[in-house]
Amino acid sequence: MCGIVGSVSHRSICSVLVEGLRRLEYRGYDSAGVALLDGEGKLLRARETGKIRELEQNLQANPIDGKTGIAHTRWATHGVPAERNAHPHVCGGVAVVHNGIIENHEPLRIEYQAKGYSFTSDTDTEVAAVMIHDYMQQGLGLFEAATQAIARLQGAYALGVICVSEPHRMVAARNGSPLVVGLGEDENFIASDIYALVGETQRFVFLDDGDIADLTPENVRIYDKAGSAVERPVTESRMTLDAVERGEYRHYMLKEIFEQPVALEKTLDGRLAAGQVVDAAFGQAAAAAFDHIQAVQIVACGTSFHAGSVARYWFESLANLPCNVEVASEFRYRKQVVRPGTLFVTISQSGETADTLAALKEAKQLGYVHTLAICNVPQSSIVRDSDSVLLTRAGMEIGVASTKAFTTQLAALLMLVLALGRRHGLTPEKEAAIVAQLQTLPQQVAGALRLDAQLEQWAARFGDKHHALYLGRGSQYPVAMEGALKLKEISYIHAEAYAAGELKHGPLALIDADMPVVAVAPNDELLDKLKSNLQEVQARGGELYVLADEDVDFTGSERVHVLRVGKAAEEIAPIVFSVPLQLLAYHVAVIRGTDVDQPRNLAKSVTVE
Ligand code: AGP
Repeated sequence: MCGIVGSVSHRSICSVLVEGLRRLEYRGYDSAGVALLDGEGKLLRARETGKIRELEQNLQANPIDGKTGIAHTRWATHGVPAERNAHPHVCGGVAVVHNGIIENHEPLRIEYQAKGYSFTSDTDTEVAAVMIHDYMQQGLGLFEAATQAIARLQGAYALGVICVSEPHRMVAARNGSPLVVGLGEDENFIASDIYALVGETQRFVFLDDGDIADLTPENVRIYDKAGSAVERPVTESRMTLDAVERGEYRHYMLKEIFEQPVALEKTLDGRLAAGQVVDAAFGQAAAAAFDHIQAVQIVACGTSFHAGSVARYWFESLANLPCNVEVASEFRYRKQVVRPGTLFVTISQSGETADTLAALKEAKQLGYVHTLAICNVPQSSIVRDSDSVLLTRAGMEIGVASTKAFTTQLAALLMLVLALGRRHGLTPEKEAAIVAQLQTLPQQVAGALRLDAQLEQWAARFGDKHHALYLGRGSQYPVAMEGALKLKEISYIHAEAYAAGELKHGPLALIDADMPVVAVAPNDELLDKLKSNLQEVQARGGELYVLADEDVDFTGSERVHVLRVGKAAEEIAPIVFSVPLQLLAYHVAVIRGTDVDQPRNLAKSVTVE
């Protein structure tokens, strides 16, 4: 979603801000802009729809610069993508960038229109610029005016504000949308995430909800929601440019797919010992709570929801625990009946997904025994709001399509299942056997990656298709769902996943020569049933693409394509089989020439409802 970067400095800052925007591209956006104070009483602004390169071209043709500035990538919510709706929004000498949604913007707009203000955009943000301007007209300084205005805003926001009358000051605020302060030498920064500022500083302060920061080049003062000055901890980041560059890979998504063996190794590192999952991996509080858990509620969105859906099968079959999984946008608005002893688990790559965060806040009022986050971003809101956390250690994921985050979530969830299962009848022998499987996971995933060239050949047959069906059974059904989501989001081919047993109940009607059917077929107890389902597809002229275990008896033919995905044991098979589905989607997208890392209309982290 929207990205913010800003700086108060003693040097020209335009190129730093534009580079920051380039780094925030992965979040998803449709327009971009920058506003700078030239130090001679002028507020200069450039805005463009489309990509950052359009903004750069504009800036080359009409150069502007300054030592204080704010910049923004916009992902449209209120108002179409258009220059007039792009940020920064300006009123008089005040400029504002915003991520989130100001829910009460309509009554505020009417109120300020009545005072004589006219609005030039359709956005919810512009009202913030107008209000701050109005308070300044009443004699307040920038910080006081911004504080007064912010107190009247409802909804989620991260804000950056500058004004011509105080050219060495920037005000920033956070409530529900991520914002970090970067500490430099004689300059300070704000950004939606630390990645925007890699190379500029490694020292960061993560604002809490309700915080307002007053920044000058020399100082950062932070005030909490009660208006009291507070010290927030300074975090040293070790993120380097090397770690987040694309390197030899054509796309971030491909790089991230190939990083999975290492990401999995890191996720498992230090958490398995002597044939067991180490309880301490979850923290003391969680380990104590685990003794009382009788059920599990998982809440997540998108790919993370699919990871939770795989885990449901594991919780029930291995840990003997009832497990419910729900998408956060439904969970948060449904009346909940909480079983005693239920552990509440959120799964999120970013830790900032608005619905998941809201569901977590809701859950904390509902009597769950403990809240545990499975998350990839240590400083994220979901991590900070949870009782305990199991970090996935996938490293930064930039491609909008989640890949290494998914497989590391699955590994983390399987560890959680074992830790709880041990308390509910999972034998030490069975735990040790699954731990041994987990230890082979990086190699098995590396084996699946070796199918890349063959999957590229498969992909060539998907290029002109409009629809695809994905089939799986048991814990492979959510894997099929994830495969279909990958294909949809980056290739724009409509893809549906079905539990294979459901075929006869409707989707079989869709089968024809133009509908590729992808099936995930590891050697598990449902294999024979899956094979019958696939016969039904074949008998109706469908073209099958089967991912099968090495030792599964599947004969390929002109219209039945079979690829062998090694020999993964049943429990870890969902993790291994996900990898070829990611590669298939990737190659189809490349063939279709889509924007693989930043697919249309999508944002990496969905920070608004
Ligand atoms: C997956 O490829 C998508 N980018 C999306 O479904 C994503 O998984 C979802 O928005 C949840 O994000 P989170 O894991 O950061 O909470």
